Amino acid sequence: MIKAGIVGATGYGGGELIRLLLSHPQAKITAMAAKMDGKVVKISDILPALEGKLNIACSDLNVEEMVEKADFFFLALPHKVSLDLVPQFLKAGKKVVDFSADYRFDDSEVYEEWYQVRHTSPELLKEAVYGLPELYRDEIGKARLIANPGCYPTGVVLGVAPLLSEGLIDTESIIADSKSGVSGGGRWPGEGFNFCEIEENFKAYKIAGHRHQPEMEQELSKLAKKEVRITFTPHLLPVKRGILTTLYLDLKKEMKTDETLAVFRDFYKDEPFIKVLESDKFPEIKNVCGTNFCHIGAKVDERTGRVIVISTIDNLVKGASGQAVQNMNIMCGFNEKEGLEQVALIP
Ligand SMILES: NC(=O)c1ccc[n+]([C@@H]2O[C@H](COP(=O)([O-])OP(=O)(O)OC[C@H]3O[C@@H](n4cnc5c(N)ncnc54)[C@H](OP(=O)(O)O)[C@@H]3O)[C@@H](O)[C@H]2O)c1
Repeated sequence: MIKAGIVGATGYGGGELIRLLLSHPQAKITAMAAKMDGKVVKISDILPALEGKLNIACSDLNVEEMVEKADFFFLALPHKVSLDLVPQFLKAGKKVVDFSADYRFDDSEVYEEWYQVRHTSPELLKEAVYGLPELYRDEIGKARLIANPGCYPTGVVLGVAPLLSEGLIDTESIIADSKSGVSGGGRWPGEGFNFCEIEENFKAYKIAGHRHQPEMEQELSKLAKKEVRITFTPHLLPVKRGILTTLYLDLKKEMKTDETLAVFRDFYKDEPFIKVLESDKFPEIKNVCGTNFCHIGAKVDERTGRVIVISTIDNLVKGASGQAVQNMNIMCGFNEKEGLEQVALIP
C-alpha cells in the first residue's frame, strides 16, 4: 500500500484524483493541501460527497510536513506553481506526478516562450518523463518525475501516433480540431466561462496560439523523427467533461478505411485503455466520460485522399487524473489497470 499525497486537492483534477484513489486497492490518501489562506478544513467540508469516506484535513502547503505523511505525490496545481515545488519533493526522496506543463518540455526555451516564465529547474527536464504510457511505458516505470500530459495533447497525440510513426501521413498538413467540456479550464476559470456564456453556446478560442500546441508538436516531431507543425483549434463545448478531437490527415498513399484501422489496432494491440472502434463506428464523449479510456475511430475520404480520425477522452480522467493513476501504477509496479476499470454506461 502506498501513501499518496495530493497538492491541489480542491481543484477539478485533485477532486477526480481523490475519486479514483478511493477505489484503488494499493493506494491510500494520507495528505492533502491546496491554497487555503491559512484555514485547515476537512476535505469533506469542501467536497461534501466525501463525507464518511475520507476524513483528512486540507491546509496550505507545507512541504516539510507533507513529505512526512506520504511517499508518492500528485501535484494538481496551476502552471508555474509546480515549478518550484517539484524539486523540493524530489529532494525529499519522493516520486512525483506533476499535472502542469512545467516539466513537459524537453527545451526550457519553448516553455519560457509559451508560458512566459523563466524555468528555474531546467536540469530536471532531461529527467522528467512525458507521462503518456502508450508511448513511454518503459521510461515511466523507471522515473521519479512524470510530467502528466495536457488533456488536448493526449487526445491529439493518441489519434495521430500510429499513422505518423508508420510514415503514412504528410507531416506538413496535420489539422486537429478539438472540442472540450468546460471542466478543462479548472474550477476557477476566467472570463467567458460563466453559465450564460457557455450554455447553449459553442465557440472556438485561442485560435493559432493555444499553449498545448507546442506540446503536441514536440511529441509528434519525436514520432516522425523530424520537425512537425500542426494546426490546432480548440473549442468550448457546453458540457462538463470530455474532449472530442477530429483530425484531418493527408495520406501519402492510397489506403482504405480498414487498412488505416488495422494500423491503429496493431499499434495499440496491447494497450489496456485504447479502444479502436470498428469500421463506420465513431467515438462519442458519453462513452468515455468518467473512464480512463481513449476511443478512436477513422474513415478515409477517398475523394480527397485524407483520413479523418476521431478520438475521445475524458479530460479529467485519461486527460489528467486517470492518466496520473495509470502512471503511478506503472511507477510502483502495480497492475496498470488498478483503480481504473470503470466503464461509462449512462451519459
Ligand atoms: N482540468 C483539466 O481537465 C485538466 C486536464 C489536464 C491537465 N490539467 C492541469 O492540471 C492542473 C490542475 O488543473 P485543475 O483543472 O484541477 O485546476 P483547478 O480546478 O483550478 O485546481 C487547482 C488547484 O490548485 C490549488 N492551488 C492553486 N495555487 C496554489 C498554491 N499556490 N498552493 C497550493 N495550492 C494551490 C487550488 O487551490 P484552491 O482551490 O484553494 O485555490 C486547487 O486545489 C493544471 O496544471 C492544469 O493545466 C487540467
